Amino acid sequence: MIGIGLQDEKDISVKGLEAVKKCSKVYLEGYTSLLSVGVDELSKFYGKKIIVAGRDMAEQGMEKIVQEAKSDDVAFLVIGDVFSATTHISMMIEARRRKVPVEVVHNASVLTAVGVTGLELYKFGKVTSIPFDNDNVEEPVKVLEMNMKNRLHTLFLLDLKPDENKFMTSAEAAEYLISKGADAGLRAVACAKLGSKEQVIKVRKLGEMINIKIAKFPQCLIVPAKNLHFVEEEALEAWR
Ligand SMILES: C[S@@+](CC[C@H](N)C(=O)[O-])C[C@H]1O[C@@H](n2cnc3c(N)ncnc32)[C@H](O)[C@@H]1O
Repeated sequence: MIGIGLQDEKDISVKGLEAVKKCSKVYLEGYTSLLSVGVDELSKFYGKKIIVAGRDMAEQGMEKIVQEAKSDDVAFLVIGDVFSATTHISMMIEARRRKVPVEVVHNASVLTAVGVTGLELYKFGKVTSIPFDNDNVEEPVKVLEMNMKNRLHTLFLLDLKPDENKFMTSAEAAEYLISKGADAGLRAVACAKLGSKEQVIKVRKLGEMINIKIAKFPQCLIVPAKNLHFVEEEALEAWR
């Protein structure tokens, strides 16, 4: 299980690349993020044919992938870092249950790349996700309230369907949060395509974020706690 980083074919570590080259089969998850390059570029750089696994293949086809790894070296590539999605924890458990040895090669994840905003990573509270279909979803706002109360930053992961080129925007996320009662005056930080050269970061009030257009994807949204350290304040001011 190999994290391949957030931007392009060259973000894989030397250790990760060596492992890929030794594998007879290479899968790439296609549901947690989007690289700046296509599968062909990866394939050319790694010197391997790549099978793109949608969420269904990774979840329902997990047993098959693990079974293949019983007799052959199989690489499962994850954009960003390996354990940033529950599916991949299940995959490791399934492999261990079947006594298939798993080697993990870590990389950078959006969960740490948000550090570029200047907000201190150890002051983030529970991370929450906003799904596309969110009329009856209350959890993200409850998490926001709880984190605010505990003086912690909130990271909202925004739904995506890369195979359909469908990505939730920070504006849509802000609109959803306000519709569920979040204070439009709260400060928010929109992050798009973190870890790449095309990265965009914008700091606005939640109410203003609704009108912000960022045409880079994927995106996530942060609502910082109110009690910022002066260095965090400086960093946010610089991004403004
Ligand atoms: C389960 S997380 C993990 C993504 C990836 N596997 C990782 O390790 O960073 C998926 C969410 O991260 C966010 N995301 C993914 N890639 C991003 C990027 N490059 N910039 C900003 N947000 C990103 C999106 O909000 C998406 O819904």
